[in-house]
Amino acid sequence: MATQDTPPSKRLGGEPIGATEYGKWYKSWADHRRWGEVWFTRVWGDTHRDLPYINEPFNDAVTQKSWEDRGFQNQRFTGDLYDMRNPEPEWMSHFRRWLPMRHFSWSLYRMPPGTVLPEHSDTYGRFREIYSLPADAVIRRYVVFLENWQSGHYIEIDDAPVVNWICGKGVFWHGDVPHMAANIGRTDRYTLQITGVIDESMPPWRWQHANNNFF
Ligand SMILES: [Fe+2]
Repeated sequence: MATQDTPPSKRLGGEPIGATEYGKWYKSWADHRRWGEVWFTRVWGDTHRDLPYINEPFNDAVTQKSWEDRGFQNQRFTGDLYDMRNPEPEWMSHFRRWLPMRHFSWSLYRMPPGTVLPEHSDTYGRFREIYSLPADAVIRRYVVFLENWQSGHYIEIDDAPVVNWICGKGVFWHGDVPHMAANIGRTDRYTLQITGVIDESMPPWRWQHANNNFF
């Protein structure tokens, strides 16, 4: 028979542990831990180089105007995209398996030399719309580096510079954490971007990536 000491999941008529309990922890943790790191096995080989990327304009005209006002004139602002409108690379299943995300969305991004993406916060406009997300949903974005760092490749998250990465390193942030990227080097810069909402029924070790997890 259920008593006050019985965990909620076992209480008759109680809410199952999961969404409610972990969700509370997750929201406060995400607020405190604005960004983090995680590492993945290189399951993509060199296949990311052979995809038909296309160039599309930056999706936030207001932000782009603020860059131009700040002096970024005649810049190439976006790289080339291969996204979910195309067939999914077979190795994406690795990420689907290891990242506990609802509404898992991916895009591959190629930044040729000369591309800059000055400081901005992601708006997730299309993502919010497609999945009709409530305003307080904590959206997480991963950027996974598909090759070892090469000269001139850059990213900065919440004023913290990141360079010298090894292939398979990923960074992630929550919501509107500001970041920037650039390629002022000699070679193309390839990343995988994954966007989603944490599955709050998963225990914290699945979404915290606190122990240098290598997937
Ligand atoms: Fe961004």
